[in-house]
Amino acid sequence: MIKVAPSILAADFARLGEEIEDVRRAGADMLHFDVMDGLFVPNISFGIPVLKSLRRSTDMFLDVHLMIDRPLRYAERFCEAGADLVNVHVEADSPENIRAALEKVRACGKKTGITLKPATPAEAAAPYLELADLVLVMTVEPGFGGQSFMADMLDKLRRVRAMLDAVNPACELEVDGGVNAQTAALCADAGASVLVAGSAVFGKPDRAAAIAALKQA
Ligand code: DX5
Ligand code: ZN
Repeated sequence: MIKVAPSILAADFARLGEEIEDVRRAGADMLHFDVMDGLFVPNISFGIPVLKSLRRSTDMFLDVHLMIDRPLRYAERFCEAGADLVNVHVEADSPENIRAALEKVRACGKKTGITLKPATPAEAAAPYLELADLVLVMTVEPGFGGQSFMADMLDKLRRVRAMLDAVNPACELEVDGGVNAQTAALCADAGASVLVAGSAVFGKPDRAAAIAALKQA
């Protein structure tokens, strides 16, 4: 069964607690938390204090997507603030420091994720597959919600799934960007097990129907 992770980037921040309770009741499997630093991506979102508040208000699994430069600097602080899983981009630092960031997250007792931008080939994830609980394939350029799904990423999804099946079959394969009821089916077909969706969940008045439509894929 495919999991759905609503991205709170598309929520109404003035009513964040209610928005989260709404998607929890609507059947969301986890929450996706997009952190942007204005440097790794051309946008700034939210960070540690917001994560701490969320942690106090929900027991949902918190999937933290760090779109920040040199994530090793902050990996431990996001774990302490309440992340259940920390996703780092392979492009955000040297291979040694990316590995160190994943090891730091593991040492904190949390799950690890490795993320690929659209231009980054599947092979870039290879050195980290055994250290990862999840691989995230971006299907839009990171930085903004509401963009169109890049269908040419489906091949990459299949390649990553095949690589994982060889060395770490329990690893989740997550897809993020432009996922809606139509593109969800393509992602599921290509091997995705977790669908991140911002606009396709928070942009709809009936969140239960929106999540059900994604899961039907
Ligand atoms: C983009 C973020 C996504 C974003 C997805 O940089 O990583 O998680 O919220 O939004 P939608 O689902 O609207 O494309
Ligand atoms: Zn994201």
